[in-house]
Amino acid sequence: MSRRMLVVGNWKMNGLRAQLADVEAIGAVAAEHPAVEVGLCLPATLITAAADKAGVAFIGAQDCHQKANGAHTGCLSAAMLKEAGATQVIVGHSERRTDQHESSADVAAKALAAKAEGLQVILCLGESLETRDAGEALPFVLNQLAESLPQGAAADWLSIAYEPIWAIGTGRIPTMEQIAEMHGGIRGKLAELAGAEVAAGMRVLYGGSVNAENAAEIFALEDVDGGLVGGASLTAAKFGPVIAAAS
Ligand code: PGA
Repeated sequence: MSRRMLVVGNWKMNGLRAQLADVEAIGAVAAEHPAVEVGLCLPATLITAAADKAGVAFIGAQDCHQKANGAHTGCLSAAMLKEAGATQVIVGHSERRTDQHESSADVAAKALAAKAEGLQVILCLGESLETRDAGEALPFVLNQLAESLPQGAAADWLSIAYEPIWAIGTGRIPTMEQIAEMHGGIRGKLAELAGAEVAAGMRVLYGGSVNAENAAEIFALEDVDGGLVGGASLTAAKFGPVIAAAS
C-alpha cells in the first residue's frame, strides 16, 4: 500500500508573531513538493494567525487535553484547537510524558478526544538511552504502542512517530539498522493490535535530530513514512531540504 510521506515540524516552545514569516516561507516550500504532506505543530498562540499564512501546509498543535471542557486550568481542548485553526495534534511527545507525567492511558485518551473533533493525530513513542543500552528498546516501544494506541485506530486519522528520547535535540541518531528494526517492529505490532490493513496504511514517522544531512537516508527506509522534526523545522532554510528529501 502506498503511504503519502508526512513531514511535520514541531516548534515546541518556540515562536512569536515575528516567526509567521517562516511559516509562510515553509508553506511556499511545501507547495513545491505536492507529493509530501507538510505541517507545522505550533505553540497554540500562533495557530490562528499561522493558519492564514501556511498555504498548503497544515497547522497543528502539540498537545490537547483528554476532556472536552471543565476545570483544567491552563489546558486546551481539541475543540479549542480546532476552532483556532489546527487540523492535527501531537499526543504523547516524550517531553510531555516526562515533564507533565502523562501516561500511555492519558495519551490514548487524548488521541480519542482529538479524533472526536475531527483532528488528525500524531502519536509519539520512544525509549530512553538507559532502555536502549539495556537492549530493551524494541520491547519497550512495542509495549508503549500497545498501551497508547487508541480504540479504533485507523490510518485515515492516526500516524505514529518513533522518537528515541536520546536522539531528540542531541544531534545523535540511531543507525539505519536500528531505525529499520524499530519501524518494522512497530508495523508488525500495529498489525497484531489493529489488523493488517490498518498497519499497511498507517504512517510511521521517525523523529530525533532529523536534518538536511540525514533526512534522505532515513526517509529512504522501507517502513519510514516521513519525519517529526524539531530544531530543523524552525526556518524554511533548514526545513526546506528535509521536505525535499521526502519528495
Ligand atoms: P529534534 O526534535 O528534531 O530537535 O531532535 C524532534 C522532536 O522532539 O519532535
